[in-house]
Amino acid sequence: MKHSVSELTAVIRDRRTIYPKDMTDRVVQRDLVEQLLGNAIWAPNHGMTQPWRFKVFLGEARRRLADFLGDEYRRTTPPEKFLQRKFDNMTQRPLQASVVIALGLARDPNGRISERDEQFAVACAVQNMHLSCTAHGLGGFWSTGAAMTGNGMRDMLGLGPEDQCLGLFFIGYPAIEWPKGYRKPLPEVVEWFTH
Ligand SMILES: Cc1cc2nc3c(=O)[nH]c(=O)nc-3n(C[C@H](O)[C@H](O)[C@H](O)COP(=O)(O)O)c2cc1C
Repeated sequence: MKHSVSELTAVIRDRRTIYPKDMTDRVVQRDLVEQLLGNAIWAPNHGMTQPWRFKVFLGEARRRLADFLGDEYRRTTPPEKFLQRKFDNMTQRPLQASVVIALGLARDPNGRISERDEQFAVACAVQNMHLSCTAHGLGGFWSTGAAMTGNGMRDMLGLGPEDQCLGLFFIGYPAIEWPKGYRKPLPEVVEWFTH
């Protein structure tokens, strides 16, 4: 065996979404965030375009992000669709997590690679990061609401007109017991073809 398969399996199966409301205010140190991002960028990607662009919000910058999200939600939501609970989540979550990473996607300038494949690659990078969080005992949460994936967010992050933000990834130390997960049994999701 080249690596510890049992440890790898344990980390994969133990990875859990932990919401910012369930994170403590203990600061995740910047060098640890760099380690997480250093693992993220080893994700597979079509054509080696390496489309991920991570925009990291720490400390007071999280407040700026929270204010932006609140304004953006108001700006893009018709009054009859406005939900106070959503607004509160949007503006409180960045302050509840020690680290918020906006998941930028930069399109290949010559458009060789499909948007879909660039998105897949960023998703693989997020999974690397989330698994690395698990190994460190950190909670992670990927959020993809409209306010954080729209053009306003893309522009605020300094991404180009063809680029996108695929949401926010929140990181923090859990204040709760590590959640239990659930998955359908394999036979429900796998079909074997043998002849
Ligand atoms: C692309 C993506 C987007 C997600 N967006 C949200 C979200 O907006 N709100 C939310 O509550 N959970 C979101 N999640 C987290 C899922 O709810 C979570 O992964 C799922 O419940 C399984 O739990 P686990 O991650 O602990 O295994 C998202 C997950 C992914 C992969």
